[in-house]
Amino acid sequence: MDNVFVMNHPLIQHKISLIRKKETGTNEFRRLIEEIAILMGFEALRDLPMEEVEVETPMEKCMTPMLSGRKLAVVPVLRAGLGMVSGITTLVPSAKIGHIGLYRDPETHEPKEYYCKLPDPIEERLTVLVDPMLATGGSAVAAVDFVKQHGGKKIKCMFIIAAPEGLKRLHEAHPDVQIYIGHLDRELNENAYICPGLGDAGDRIFGTK
Ligand code: PRP
Ligand code: URA
Repeated sequence: MDNVFVMNHPLIQHKISLIRKKETGTNEFRRLIEEIAILMGFEALRDLPMEEVEVETPMEKCMTPMLSGRKLAVVPVLRAGLGMVSGITTLVPSAKIGHIGLYRDPETHEPKEYYCKLPDPIEERLTVLVDPMLATGGSAVAAVDFVKQHGGKKIKCMFIIAAPEGLKRLHEAHPDVQIYIGHLDRELNENAYICPGLGDAGDRIFGTK
């Protein structure tokens, strides 16, 4: 599929296996989510625009490449996406941060919006949406819809674990969006949870139930 990238790096796969384990506690889970976000971000941001700038080394002046253009916007889908933000800002400390608050209705599994704020001017920034889980795809489609409604044009999405159903739904709704996935899992169960998955990402990051 065009614009869909499944990461097969051994370090990413190893860390994903660790977060799947039910005995992995909140502390370690949070640290691993951040580390996976760094590793995935390193790959997903390989096409950031660059410009040649002049610097002076202790030896001489030279032209050397640096990131150019507006700072990117990292936009977590609340709550669980918050766990990935520090991974991206470790790579790009000057990134601006937006927030999209969505939760899944327990009956219909459709997303309900409760908070949204994006950095201006969003149309001039690369927007990197982050969420550990892509299940039915309802939340991701709604989040991308929101960014586009506010003028966002260049959008990348990063998910640590995805279900085939959600990937198909997001890609069909937004074929122009680049989708980065740590691991593509088998299927959704009858409650729209990813199997084998890792359970409820928000609860595991924040220690709630
Ligand atoms: C989780 C997850 C995604 C969403 C994925 O959030 O972080 O945002 O579910 O499911 P979908 O693809 O079927 O929409 P949740 O709604 O559980 O909210 P939370 O992060 O606040 O716990
Ligand atoms: N949200 C989660 O946190 N986990 C799933 O498996 C599906 C949606």
